Amino acid sequence: MAAARRLFSFHLALHPREPARPLATAATAVAVPHRRGKHDAVACKATGKTKPKAKAKAANKGGERLRRRPLEEHLKRRTRSAAAFDADLYGRHGHAHHVPVLLGEVLAAFRRPRPLRSFVDCTLGAAGHSLAMMEAHPEMELYIGMDVDPTALEIGRGHIEAFLAGREANGGELRAYTHVKNFKYIKQVLGSLDESLAVGSSGVDGILIDLGMSSMQVNRSNRGFSVLQDGPLDMRMDPKATLRAEDILNSWPELEVGRILRDYGEESNWQFLQKQIAKAREMGGLHSTGDLVKLIQRKCTISKGRQGWIKTATRVFQALRIAVNDELRVLEDSLHSSFDCLATGGRLAVVSFHSLEDRIVKKTFLELIHGGEADDEDDDLTLPDIDDEDEPWFNQRVQGRNGIVLTKRPITPSQEEEKLNQRCRSAKLRVIQKA
Ligand SMILES: C[S@@+](CC[C@H](N)C(=O)[O-])C[C@H]1O[C@@H](n2cnc3c(N)ncnc32)[C@H](O)[C@@H]1O
Repeated sequence: MAAARRLFSFHLALHPREPARPLATAATAVAVPHRRGKHDAVACKATGKTKPKAKAKAANKGGERLRRRPLEEHLKRRTRSAAAFDADLYGRHGHAHHVPVLLGEVLAAFRRPRPLRSFVDCTLGAAGHSLAMMEAHPEMELYIGMDVDPTALEIGRGHIEAFLAGREANGGELRAYTHVKNFKYIKQVLGSLDESLAVGSSGVDGILIDLGMSSMQVNRSNRGFSVLQDGPLDMRMDPKATLRAEDILNSWPELEVGRILRDYGEESNWQFLQKQIAKAREMGGLHSTGDLVKLIQRKCTISKGRQGWIKTATRVFQALRIAVNDELRVLEDSLHSSFDCLATGGRLAVVSFHSLEDRIVKKTFLELIHGGEADDEDDDLTLPDIDDEDEPWFNQRVQGRNGIVLTKRPITPSQEEEKLNQRCRSAKLRVIQKA
């Protein structure tokens, strides 16, 4: 058997049709507020004093919520992973840099097509998912790992090189490439390797997008992602991008800052915080995550204590991170590009970590299979449950002319995984298969 080839390319050869631009420019966020788009239409909650009648109503609602809880828990359980938790798998692929989320479920998502000859991990991170996929698919011939963060990619690449070195000794054959690149450029990346991969039926067999940040990014205070560690107000996934959280907080129009907190953080106190941020500008602005946290604490410590400020700060940080990296727009565009790059029968799996992301994945998947606008209410599109012994964990599917949504309801982590890794609690996996 031929020896394994390890072809790591660090610089993307641009697609011939794409104008030659330096990578930094291609992936750079522009330092101006973007125009209002369809991701900006999240309803805001009204603030203000609660009237007695409203209070009674709210109390009633609270009671209702308690009564409804068993049903909600039941519904939540229905989406919980039914796959047996494989502690050994997690032990092998989780490490100090990052513990891959929903690992067993991601592997199950790519049980088909078989053989899985080509696979793209759009969010390489510490390569936990990638290595488990390579291990589960010795038939894989082409692997591409992408990450917009060069530090993350460097770590992931190291793990892949070590794995492939071992595999080479056993005589496997796999062409593996890594690219420091935003996944919105998946077509260009695949096209630079082989033009036919970027289009239709001769595309790739599997694509994974595991959204959000890795533990190694959160734990480095100099990235500005952590609510609990003081650092610069940065929050860029791509260190070459020009827009930082500090720019938004100190120089974007006040109303735009409020809109970001409202729409991307779903933060009910957005108006108050918007005003405090504007006031802080008069005193020289906010220059560290600590400055921002103090501003949030001033609002929350009196009313809600530590839990209150941490939750608010988490929402505010999420909002800024989404805006800095233009995450929602990138996600939606990338789902379309990724689906285009799938071969017939190929699958795209997405792990998301908050409701804004999950809503986009759910809606875009429906659009993709139906070839146009999707109705949010997809119940009437659902096929009866398919009795598929091979993949019983896909409880309900939605069939369209261009493909199948294999997860009408998203798969959420098992209780065992939640106990092991708190970070996974909000994770949701959705999977689509191309017709
Ligand atoms: C949750 S981590 C992935 C962890 C990985 N699956 C593992 O098992 O180690 C998400 C990664 O996606 C990267 N990322 C986020 N947005 C990206 C984008 N638009 N394009 C490429 N990579 C992105 C982050 O830099 C981060 O390393």
